[in-house]
Amino acid sequence: MPLPDSFLQELTQRNPIESLISGYVQVKRRGRNLVGLCPFHGEKTPSFTVYPENNSFYCFGCGAGGDVITFIKRIENLDYRDAVKFLADRAGMKMPENDVDDTMSRLRTRVLEANREAARFFHASLYSPAGIEALDYFHRRGYTDSTIRRFGLGYATDDFNSLRDALRKKGFKDEELTLAFLCARSRRNNSLYDIFRNRVMIPIIDIRGNVIAFGGRVLDDSKPKYINTSDTPAFKKTQNLFALNVAKASAGQQLILCEGYMDVIALHQAGFSNAVAALGTSFTADHARLVARYAKEAILIFDADTAGQKGTQRAIGLLRETGVDIRVVTIPDGKDPDEFIRKNGADRFRVLLERSANDVEYRLIRAGQKYDLSQAGDKVNFLREASEILSELQSPVERDVYAGKLSAQMDVRKDAILQQIQRFAAQKRRQQEKKQLGNLVQKAEGLTAQANPEAKTYPRAAAAEEALLGMLMLHPDRIRRVRETLPPEKIVTAFNRGVYSWLLERDAAGLSVDLIHMAESYSDSEMGYLSRMLRDAQERRESPEELANYERVILQEQQMMHAVDPTELTPEQIQAALKALRDSKK
Ligand code: GTP
Ligand code: MN
Repeated sequence: MPLPDSFLQELTQRNPIESLISGYVQVKRRGRNLVGLCPFHGEKTPSFTVYPENNSFYCFGCGAGGDVITFIKRIENLDYRDAVKFLADRAGMKMPENDVDDTMSRLRTRVLEANREAARFFHASLYSPAGIEALDYFHRRGYTDSTIRRFGLGYATDDFNSLRDALRKKGFKDEELTLAFLCARSRRNNSLYDIFRNRVMIPIIDIRGNVIAFGGRVLDDSKPKYINTSDTPAFKKTQNLFALNVAKASAGQQLILCEGYMDVIALHQAGFSNAVAALGTSFTADHARLVARYAKEAILIFDADTAGQKGTQRAIGLLRETGVDIRVVTIPDGKDPDEFIRKNGADRFRVLLERSANDVEYRLIRAGQKYDLSQAGDKVNFLREASEILSELQSPVERDVYAGKLSAQMDVRKDAILQQIQRFAAQKRRQQEKKQLGNLVQKAEGLTAQANPEAKTYPRAAAAEEALLGMLMLHPDRIRRVRETLPPEKIVTAFNRGVYSWLLERDAAGLSVDLIHMAESYSDSEMGYLSRMLRDAQERRESPEELANYERVILQEQQMMHAVDPTELTPEQIQAALKALRDSKK
């Protein structure tokens, strides 16, 4: 059931887009609009624009755009209903009475409920007789009962049906249990069995306090070491970090990023409650954006093995794109934080943290290890590589400091090093600009193509339609000017035809045509396409007279479309088509 118009109207009024977005993105005023770095793709120059006039946003870099609901959907990773609830809560509004959840949202809720019950069940099992060995395992690793409680750790017993039976008794349907990735169906006889067995269980809790997933670890050296929840209706692993729910509160300026659940738990117990970890998968661009949202500085602690070092390099690259400061901690003897703290205590670990190098120092050290610096040739190569690394620094002061250090250390003139850095920086800037532009144009075009695939076949018609629709959305009072002369069936591309009909219908009924009323029926990429039309119209600031031109182009294209095969045209049609073509070129 769609939400009442009056409710959506109030929702927009009470959540002005500029104040909503400024909670997530640093924006600066530019004329009537606000601009900032787009939270939906990595960028260094702002292409994300907020239009307070019509409560919309649009990024001309990646094509993301829409109303307040679309923004919250995307940034908080919620579905339509939950995004509306989020905004209603924020504004202190109650949801309309007869609000019936749609299927997806209901499933999500059921999966979350099943997870919560499962977490309770696992925790209780840990402290039952069946959990003795598991509890002993945690204790041997040095985790106290208070830590176990705080993280809600648990144990999945060594049989195939105990969770299934417990949750069935609580009224969960079999499909809900398989959707939640708690149970699976046997291939042999299709019966339902528990996925997690004889494993210590670590619940993953999101920032709203929902149990969204589990990690289950074996108690010995058997394989696989971990089973982790795959993506479910309530969980996407690239969009969540373990312990962010706790770390968020104490993060302040810094987040410690490590590899394993066990490391995070050990760090929290030792007082570093700003530690988080990616969930099983490697660190992704989504993770980097999440980190950037909660911290100014990320401290990376990855294992010293080659996989860990590769992970570090990758994470550095992704985090750099978001603009957070980065430091890298290398733990001596290749231990992980969990082991290090157990052997050496929290204070020693704090010293490591404080002494940690920023990412540039870290990379310089790694580069230095590759060369024999007593050899002239190696020295030159090292300086080249070092200059290339330093060329990524944006701040001239920082460049100068490091160039000074290198100069003293390598006995080479500082300005020679600075020059080399400059050359690399210029080269890199050119490459990057080229690449970024190419990528972004492609991405934005890709979004348009997704929303309106026919635009490629009928580019001229689509362009006129987009301009027309943009103008009508911006100035609904102009809708009556086209109503009589341009019936919906004349609109060439199907997507735009749908939008046009919607505009006519809403206007005829005296209803608002604000973007927010489209958010329920249109996908995120479609909302992006629509807000681009709106933005273009706003930039063009055309007079209503232009409508007639767009109308003419659309009607011409409509005619041409029906006359695609020239061999089947009557002479009159050919004349008409040629005339239309000539007119269009005037
Ligand atoms: P301990 O070895 O008990 O200290 O655990 P750990 O959490 O420190 O694990 P480790 O450093 O080996 O791995 C880091 C992370 O990678 C884990 O927390 C898991 O998220 C993930 N991981 C490790 N092994 C597996 C596995 O076998 N399967 C899956 N899916 N993920 C794994
Ligand atoms: Mn470990």
